[in-house]
Amino acid sequence: MIPNKHFYFRFPALAVALAASAALLLAACAGPAEPPAKPAPSPAAPARYHAEGDGLALTPPMGWYPWNIFGQEPQNEKLIREIADALVASGMKDAGYAYVGPDEGICFSRGADGVLTPNLQRYPSGLRGLGDYIHGLGLKYALYTDAGSKTCSTAMPGTKGNEQADMKSFADWRADYIKIDWCNSEGQDIVKTYSLLGQAQRAAGRPLIHSLSSWGDGYPWQWAGAIGHMWRTTSDICAPGAADWARALRIAFANEKLADYAGPGRWNDPDMMIVGMPGLTDAQNRTLFSLWCMMASPLIAGNDLRGMAPATIAVLTNLEAIAVNQDPLGKQGHVIWNDGNISLWAEKPLFDGSRAVLLLYQGKHRAEKKILWEEIGFAASDALYVRNLWTHETSGPLTGGVTVSAGPEEAAFIRVSKANDFPIPPIITADSYRIVLRSNGSDPQAPAATITMTNKGSAELGLWKIDPKSVPSWLSVSVQGGGKRQMFVNKASTAGLAKGAYHALVRADNIEPVTGRPMSAFYYDVDMEVTDGGR
Ligand code: GLA
Repeated sequence: MIPNKHFYFRFPALAVALAASAALLLAACAGPAEPPAKPAPSPAAPARYHAEGDGLALTPPMGWYPWNIFGQEPQNEKLIREIADALVASGMKDAGYAYVGPDEGICFSRGADGVLTPNLQRYPSGLRGLGDYIHGLGLKYALYTDAGSKTCSTAMPGTKGNEQADMKSFADWRADYIKIDWCNSEGQDIVKTYSLLGQAQRAAGRPLIHSLSSWGDGYPWQWAGAIGHMWRTTSDICAPGAADWARALRIAFANEKLADYAGPGRWNDPDMMIVGMPGLTDAQNRTLFSLWCMMASPLIAGNDLRGMAPATIAVLTNLEAIAVNQDPLGKQGHVIWNDGNISLWAEKPLFDGSRAVLLLYQGKHRAEKKILWEEIGFAASDALYVRNLWTHETSGPLTGGVTVSAGPEEAAFIRVSKANDFPIPPIITADSYRIVLRSNGSDPQAPAATITMTNKGSAELGLWKIDPKSVPSWLSVSVQGGGKRQMFVNKASTAGLAKGAYHALVRADNIEPVTGRPMSAFYYDVDMEVTDGGR
């Protein structure tokens, strides 16, 4: 079977290795590669971002990936299905988590025809079958590959030389998200390689979130927004199964320096979260989650979702913290001062005029600190309300500032506003992302099925607009209901259709009503099977 090979320290970012002193090099071998301190925006920063076309990930993607807790060997269809079920049962789906699937552990091989072949021992339904199951739960399908000749463990083929065929396979399997690692890529030009993969993915015709995983190699924050939606900024947050608190904090402090590069559809990715992994306290879980929310980082859980402690579920599903992460302005908060023990994280304006603020305490005893209004973008004389995003209590109106307290390795995470109201931005969930219509071709019929979309946010949304280019002639889609609950009613017309299988990927778009900004596009699959029925 596949060897469970993982090399904890195998990815020091090239740039860091070149720049670091001998002492820093030693540190890099024992910890994450860190990006350089606040590099200036590159003159070559993309003029247009990839997400402007497909409308995907206009807020940070939310989901789950297996690597942090499981590593490679335990990944199989049974595990991924159980996790997907747990994602729904735990309430995480209702809080906005959607993307789920195998990481390295996907276990495909390359057939004699050059095409990727699923491992049916590990994934008996095939990789398309697993995707259909996930879509049926109202979740989105995430898959994995590598841009080099082989994946990181060398157990699976990478895409090198087969970019078009592989991206076609991911589209055929109905992936909505693909993470592309950078192992075994010696001699490859990083920008050319990921650009080629981006072109191949577009040619395959299925929009999906493209997650570049070069761990900061090649400074992806300077160019990857033109190709995909998110890029890893550092090496791995932990070895599989071994949460490492100090390492996670170092990664957060490396990632926060890149705040200028993030925005809707283009995210710095400090790796999957370690919330809920063995060995962490509830306070550490809350703190890590607060930091990832504050940095507008993709919220990809990395723990075992089966049998989670209620306290872990409460952290991962805290809608008031998620509201900061999913804010439509898409600003990445960052450190504005750090005295070694305490750091203040701010410059995270939110869609309603409020601001998120985080105070991280790394000392040994509980500390109190006054945050001044002028430090966080308000005037000293402003009368402001303060929402504690963990206790869900509001204080105020206060002038001048607010005193917060935090225990060792704990963050105070607050939202400050002129209004005593802390609205939640749109958080969209669906009862399914796939419908199946069946019909008898010799007896014209109009099979119909509905997808229901729910907004967990505060706003009543306008009606979603169906993209007519995404609706083939045999299908019509109307949007019914309104506000927080809308239905996509799909009707097929089989008159004149030959026997066979038909497929559409329907796209709908909406606008966030307060800011007037586009929301992430909503895509779902429609499959129709026309049988002759023997009449
Ligand atoms: C790299 C990535 C991890 C995981 C492993 C799989 O280390 O950074 O997230 O995908 O590869 O081998």
